[in-house]
Amino acid sequence: MDRMSWWREAKFGMFIHWGVYSVPGRGEWVMFQERIPKGEYRKFADKFNPERYNPEEWVKLAKRAGMKYMVLTTRHHDGFSLFDSKVRDFTAPKSSARRDLVKEYVDACRKYDMRVGFYFSLLDWRYDAYFLGPKKDPEGWNKLVNYMHAQVEELMTNYGKIDILWYDGGWPYTAEDWKSQELNAMVRRLQPDIIINNRSQLPEDFDTPEQYVPGHFPNPNMPERDWESCMTLNDHWGYCKGDNNWKPPQEVIWNLARCASGGGNYLLNVGPKPDGTIPEESIKILEQVGGWIDKNGESIYGTVRTKVGFPHGVTTLKDNKLYIHVFYWNSEFALAPCKINIKKAYFLETGEEINYTVKGERIIFSGLPEKAPDPLDTVIVLEFEGDITALDPFRPFE
Ligand code: GLC
Repeated sequence: MDRMSWWREAKFGMFIHWGVYSVPGRGEWVMFQERIPKGEYRKFADKFNPERYNPEEWVKLAKRAGMKYMVLTTRHHDGFSLFDSKVRDFTAPKSSARRDLVKEYVDACRKYDMRVGFYFSLLDWRYDAYFLGPKKDPEGWNKLVNYMHAQVEELMTNYGKIDILWYDGGWPYTAEDWKSQELNAMVRRLQPDIIINNRSQLPEDFDTPEQYVPGHFPNPNMPERDWESCMTLNDHWGYCKGDNNWKPPQEVIWNLARCASGGGNYLLNVGPKPDGTIPEESIKILEQVGGWIDKNGESIYGTVRTKVGFPHGVTTLKDNKLYIHVFYWNSEFALAPCKINIKKAYFLETGEEINYTVKGERIIFSGLPEKAPDPLDTVIVLEFEGDITALDPFRPFE
């Protein structure tokens, strides 16, 4: 079976940004942005003692939200690793937490059959060589790269089977600078089934558009590569106390449907507090999203990229079913231009059949309820026979 197939079907994952930066609570870039000296930053590590950390709660929440995999920041740009490391001391087990937080996360995922992903930042702000680069500081650069490789090896060796390796922080250097070819060869030797993203400056398995869903679908220019949009729930990845700009559940659901429509995945972030709990607001949003998925998941999981556009929302496609996600409800509308041999049309949530008429290349729905049956996103299923053909809209019409 194709290594990617479970991931392609999964569609929806949880991203978790958590580390020492959660203590000040001003986002994960705080050290760099405020130019906090290393010694001062270390003091946050002394306060990073997540008493209420219970990753099983995270996994259960991800499940309730309909998410099929999780990706945790095992080490972010500040170089602090949540895992035990023989090569460095700036780690959770060797500071006040005194625990291998990654191990507990992996155990929790396994217990609940959740796919396990590791985020790992290549860069480390605590190294001058990172800023100076391999040309100005070849010796320092080698140290940085060697220690980075060693930590990736630890992650790939010490925690059993890992499903996703989600690199970050390769800029502004090249794959050659990071020795990414060797790095990923080592990773694949240790974890033959692992899926690797494109941020070690090599394309590998999937692309990672950040904070947006690419294109309007159908988008003929979209490359036939696997991709995953990652997105925050407010404006920060890491916990930010003062950020209340939460996305409404509807926006999350529409983004998920848009991703599915374009054949991509949606990796949605939470930023737990320093004590290890996920902010209440995030929980509420995710639970509402999960409520919608409970009823409409069929229109998301296992779908493939569709070529059929829909002006009032998006369509998703699986086997002989086209799912019409109506974002902007109306009691009448048409899907066009397409050729499709429809067998049956019905509301996904209730199974109630819907009347439609086919006129040439238009499928017309009318006499529908005035109010959207599901204000978040009403899904209409078209069961069809044979092929479905999206027609070129750039033609004269009657
Ligand atoms: C960016 C940021 C980082 C965040 C990541 C998530 O690269 O540097 O803070 O972890 O995007 O995609």
